Amino acid sequence: ARHGGSSRTAYHFQPAKPWQNESVAVRHGGSSRTTGYHFQPAKNWQNDPNGPMYHNGVYHLFYQYNPLGATWGKGNLSWGHSVSQDLVNWAALETAIDPTAPFDANGCWSGSATILPGGVPAMLYTGGDADRVQVQNIAFAKNPADPLLREWVKPAYNPVIPHPADVLFNQFRDPSTAWVGSDGMWRILVAAQVGSNNTGIASTLVYRSKDFRHWERNASPLYTSRAAGMVECPDLFPVAEPGMDEGRLDYAAGTASGAMRHVLKLSVMNTTEDYYAVGQYDNVADTFTPEVDGERIIEDCRTWRRFDYGHVYASKSFFDARKNRRVLWAWVNESDSEDDDIARGWSGLQIVPRKVWLDGDGKQLRQWPVDEIETLRTKRVGHQLVGLHVNTGGVKEITGAGAQAAVEVVFQIPDLEGAETFEPKWLLDPQKLCEERGVSVPGGVGPFGLLVMASGDLREHTSVFFRVFRRSDNYRILMCTDLTRSTRRDKVYKLAYGGFVDMDMEEQGSTISLRTLVDYSVVESFGGGGRTCMTARVYPEHAEKSNSHVFVFNNGTGGVKVTRLDAWRLKTATVNVVPLRG
Ligand code: FRU
Repeated sequence: ARHGGSSRTAYHFQPAKPWQNESVAVRHGGSSRTTGYHFQPAKNWQNDPNGPMYHNGVYHLFYQYNPLGATWGKGNLSWGHSVSQDLVNWAALETAIDPTAPFDANGCWSGSATILPGGVPAMLYTGGDADRVQVQNIAFAKNPADPLLREWVKPAYNPVIPHPADVLFNQFRDPSTAWVGSDGMWRILVAAQVGSNNTGIASTLVYRSKDFRHWERNASPLYTSRAAGMVECPDLFPVAEPGMDEGRLDYAAGTASGAMRHVLKLSVMNTTEDYYAVGQYDNVADTFTPEVDGERIIEDCRTWRRFDYGHVYASKSFFDARKNRRVLWAWVNESDSEDDDIARGWSGLQIVPRKVWLDGDGKQLRQWPVDEIETLRTKRVGHQLVGLHVNTGGVKEITGAGAQAAVEVVFQIPDLEGAETFEPKWLLDPQKLCEERGVSVPGGVGPFGLLVMASGDLREHTSVFFRVFRRSDNYRILMCTDLTRSTRRDKVYKLAYGGFVDMDMEEQGSTISLRTLVDYSVVESFGGGGRTCMTARVYPEHAEKSNSHVFVFNNGTGGVKVTRLDAWRLKTATVNVVPLRG
C-alpha cells in the first residue's frame, strides 16, 4: 500500500491494479539506477508536487518528502525544496517546511503557493496535529528578497483553518492556490470528506478570506461526488479559449471568469487517478459546472477525462509568468514493491513538466513537455527511417536512441479500410481493451508504434502503440502502453494502460503522432499531439547491464508509413545532485 489506510473500492471502469494496496515480499532489490532527466531528490521518498511557482526569475518545486527513508512515512513528511532556472536542471535546498509545530507534528502534507500582493509568497499546506487531525496552515518566505526563498516561517497563529466538525478528522486537506473573486476576497479549495463513519461525501470546499489569515467556509462546496469516496489535491485554473492570445491573460483561477472556461482537477484517492473537467466557474456564486462531454457523467468525477491514462497522481499546475503558460507537475509513483524501493533507497518521480492548453475542440486539454527539455538533445538518430513502410510484423530499430531519449514519430495509414468495427461497450474501459489486445494481438489497423526500453533480443520491451477502429462514419483511436513484456522480473505491475485519442484522423491526412520520452524506468507518451498522455514505470532487467533499444513496429494487418521521425538522445540533466550551499 502506498499510504496504507486508503481503501480500495470495486470500480467497474477501472480494474484493480496489482500495485495498489498490495504488499509483496520480494528478496531481490530493484534497480538502483536513477533516471537521467526526471525530477527526483538525491535519495528517499517523494510523492506529490507542492507549491510550484515562478518567482523573481526562479522556478521552485516543493514536494512531499520523507527525509528518513524510501517509504511514505506519513508522520515524517516534510516539504522538499529545489530551484531551477529552466525547469530541467535543479539544485536541492534544505527542506522548506518540517513537522515541528503542534499544528503539523504529524506531517506537513500537500499544499500550494500563492504570491500575495507585494510579491510575498505564501504557502498553504495541511498539517496533521498531535492527534492526527488534519488542519490547514500557512507559511511565509522569511525573506521574500532572497531569490532562493530558502527559509520558511510558520506564524504562531496557525492553524488558519481548524478542522470542521462535519468532516472526517483525517480527510481534510490539500489547499489550492488562492484566487480573488468578484467581491475582492481570496478563495481557496480544500478537499474534504463530509460526513461520518467513513461514509462521507467527497467534497471540494471553498474558503474565503479578506486578509489571507481568517478563512470562512462557503455554505456550498464547489463540487461533490458521492461515488468518489475521498478526492485529494483539487486544482482549478482558467484556460484560454482556442485561438485566444494566452499572453494577455492572468492565469489566476477566477480571473476573467465570464470570458474563460476553467478546468477542475480532482485526485481520486481510491483509484489513485487524476480526473479533470472543462466547465464554467462562476466567480460570484463560486460554482463550477462541468460541460456536457460525451458519455462522461458530471456527478461522477471518475468518468471525467484524465491528464494521463498511466501511472501519475496528485498533479498540480501553476501559471508560469515567464512564458505565459500553465505548467503541470505530477507524481509518478513506483509500480514495483516497497521492498524494492527500500533496497534502491528512493521512490517516486515527477513527470517532465508539461505545458497545458485547451484543444481547438473546446473539450479536451492538450499537454506537451515544456520546450526547455529540448536543451538536453545531443545526437539526432533514426532520421534515415523517414519514408519507411512498416508492413505486418515489421520491426525497425531507431539505432542509437538508447535508454535516455525523446522520440517523435508520425505514422500515416495508407488504407483505413481494414479497420475493425468499434464496439460501444469499449467506450468506458480503454484500459481493459488494451489488456485484452496487447501488442501481440494483430488487428486490422494496428497495433503500430514504438518498442522502448527493449533488450537487443526483444525479450524485454515496453510497447506504446495505436489501434484504429471504425465507428459509424468515423474512426476511434486507441492508445496503449503494454507492460506485459517490460521486464522478466515478477512482482511488478505488468498489465497495460489505455486511453482513446479524441481526434479526427482523416482531417489530419490519416496520420497520427506519438511522442515518447524514455528515461530508464519511466516512459512518458503523448499521443495525437498531446491529446492523450500515458506514463508508465518499467523495471527491465537488461538495462542493468546492457544497452536498451528503441524500435518502430507494426503488428497490424495493414501497412503504415513513417512520415516523420524526430528522435534524439538526451543528455543527463543536473537534478538535485549538487546541494546548493552558502
Ligand atoms: C496525495 C496525498 C495528499 C496528502 C499527501 C500526503 O497523494 O494523499 O492528499 O496531502 O498525499 O503525503
